[in-house]
Amino acid sequence: MQKAVEAALVEAMLRVKPRAVFGFATGSTPIALYRRLAERHRAGKVSFRDAASFNLDEYLGITPDNPQSYRAYMQREFFDQVDIDPANTHLPECPPGEDPQRIGPRYETMIRDAGGIDLQVLGIGHNGHIGFNEPSSSLVSRTRVKTLTPRTLEANSRLFEDGEYQPRLAITMGIATIMEARRILLLATGDAKATAVAGLVEGPVTAMCPASALQLHERVTVLLDEAAAAQLRYREYYDLANRENRALKDRFGDFYAAD
Ligand code: F6R
Repeated sequence: MQKAVEAALVEAMLRVKPRAVFGFATGSTPIALYRRLAERHRAGKVSFRDAASFNLDEYLGITPDNPQSYRAYMQREFFDQVDIDPANTHLPECPPGEDPQRIGPRYETMIRDAGGIDLQVLGIGHNGHIGFNEPSSSLVSRTRVKTLTPRTLEANSRLFEDGEYQPRLAITMGIATIMEARRILLLATGDAKATAVAGLVEGPVTAMCPASALQLHERVTVLLDEAAAAQLRYREYYDLANRENRALKDRFGDFYAAD
């Protein structure tokens, strides 16, 4: 059910703005969304022909042809499955030999030149990270090199074979970069995310839970399964508000109509 809702939000954006600029995430969470969008594309229901994309992050120290790179993930899971123009897909990649510190400012300029991000898709780390903005990241950070925490390395080690090189550094959009997206869709599933989700929605705004910065964004949609929602104290109120919002949309139009 959830993946249909997620995909509908992406499709609604494309209906309003075929040249939409998306911010995409990698990891396990958005795979269902990408598969659903690929299915809808094959069925002729959605086209990314005129869209562009900027991914949140990329590992430092592996090349795009490495199957562990986020470029390879995006090609495999999404870009190769839909009709997006490869020239319009971007990740904060650092070619071998280049100074990684120069990539961030360049990426920020590219996002700005593309008109900014219309819809940013986010997952959330167990520790509350968004992108690779680990706890203690500046809430006004920009795209830059980040050192991954031992907890993130451990969480992601499931994707690496024994003895395979696992990068410890990444280039990630900053929190301020993410906050400039016009709309944000955050997805989380499973009980391992419940504490981070509670920090995001109900905790204090703090660099120790980078996702909590989203409380200061005007248009964030948080889509959760039951397990990820389990620690929300105001859960009943959210369900009530959802029902009311749905009734309003049924009467007055959808998600993007107010733009
Ligand atoms: C991925 C990213 C990360 C992930 C987060 C959750 O591009 O930026 O913030 O969204 O680590 O990962 P999964 O979905 O694998 O639990």
